[in-house]
Amino acid sequence: MSKTFQFPNGFLWGGSVSANQIEGAYQEDGKGLSIQDIMPNGIQTPPTNELTEDNMKLFAIDFYHRYKEDIKLLSEMGFKVFRTSIAWSRIFPKGDELEPNEKGLQFYDDLFDECLKYGIEPLVTISHYETPLHLVREYDGWANRKMVDFYERYVRTIFERYKNKVKYWLTFNEINSILEHPFASGGINTPKDQLSKQALYQAVHHEFVASALAVKIGHEINPDFKIGCMVIAMPIYPLTPDPNDMIKVMEADHKNTGFTDVHVRGYYPGYMKRYLKDNGITIHFEPGDEEILKNTVDFISFSYYQSSCETADPAKQIKGEGNLIGGVPNPLLTASDWGWQIDPQGLRYIMNAMYDRYQKPLFIVENGLGAVDELITDENGNKTVHDDYRINYLKEHLLQVAEAIKDGVELMGYASWGCIDLVSATTAEMKKRYGYIYVDRHDDGSGTLERYRKKSFYWYKDVIESNGSSL
Ligand code: BG6
Repeated sequence: MSKTFQFPNGFLWGGSVSANQIEGAYQEDGKGLSIQDIMPNGIQTPPTNELTEDNMKLFAIDFYHRYKEDIKLLSEMGFKVFRTSIAWSRIFPKGDELEPNEKGLQFYDDLFDECLKYGIEPLVTISHYETPLHLVREYDGWANRKMVDFYERYVRTIFERYKNKVKYWLTFNEINSILEHPFASGGINTPKDQLSKQALYQAVHHEFVASALAVKIGHEINPDFKIGCMVIAMPIYPLTPDPNDMIKVMEADHKNTGFTDVHVRGYYPGYMKRYLKDNGITIHFEPGDEEILKNTVDFISFSYYQSSCETADPAKQIKGEGNLIGGVPNPLLTASDWGWQIDPQGLRYIMNAMYDRYQKPLFIVENGLGAVDELITDENGNKTVHDDYRINYLKEHLLQVAEAIKDGVELMGYASWGCIDLVSATTAEMKKRYGYIYVDRHDDGSGTLERYRKKSFYWYKDVIESNGSSL
């Protein structure tokens, strides 16, 4: 890239995490259990329905007690933004109480103060795969309309409490993953194979209403709030030029754009109505829902890890490994150790596609490489990781981001995933690391929890300092 290219002024460079993947302290200061506490093997495996000590997330990286040290390290890299989630069950331990848990609220007050002390903007996900367990067991999660009321009480509480500390909010993490993962994403207890499409899409509707309600309430509480939706962005290519493959691509795309269309335009698009009709699904709208949906988001945020393919040929319809949604593997791409296909240009493509469709600001709130790292002692006696593979991955993606910006895409920021090593979501492993900061904890529970700067730490610091021109 030309050395003179700079990212836009005020560009929000930083990183992302979620509460359940870093905090630990799963029962401290009144916190209730969340679905993550009974998912010791990650999102792609059914829950155990009980607490098991081998669940890495119960302790995670003990961020709950070490956040000061960690935020300081992030500030050393020059972070402008830090994305984390609020653990709903710290604020409302069961989810259906009338009064919040003060100690839970205080923790996030302290955390946001710590960020602001270093000039780091908190970017807060309201619900990141961590629905309070009680809401799942008692109400069947988002399949139940009552969730809208519980969520409303929760968002009012946190918006009021943090209205002068947090400006950027995301309503649901990767909301489009609910179709594939109704338990993890929608807190729906009914097993997927017993869940009707009618119930699933009704749950989607409840989330749409809750999300739009959050936008409405947020803007009333503080008109300066910027509230976004958050989706898995996945470009889908036809496996061959067969027009039948292209129609499959269109249908697969619709499964994702349906979520952004409702958030950005405020109503169900025609192709979604057709899908619902063809599948005998009738969404029940409560009086007022149509009006609520008109509270559209200020920006669109997304995770980007990979692209995938679609084919109309049943013999080739093999599901690849990878992130929470996905299709047929692309024969032209390589993959990470976990089978996630690597496609930096796909990022430029999807940014253009989204911006062309909506002309709304975008925010990349997840991107990165999960890899096995080896902690070594360098020539100066410092422990570190020579993670050139990670630097290379991030650099290739950021160069494509720069191209998309040159294409005219309006991008608010880039917050790479897992800026400090954390427990993976899909597999609940520590050994799948994304961070610029190494955390000495291992899947057998051993480790000192010491933090070490990786080579990528210094690389990212330079990128931020130069506002991207060092790439
Ligand atoms: C996204 C999630 O799907 O992917 C994160 O929002 C998750 O919570 C990330 O950690 C990477 O997935 P994994 O399984 O490698 O942790």
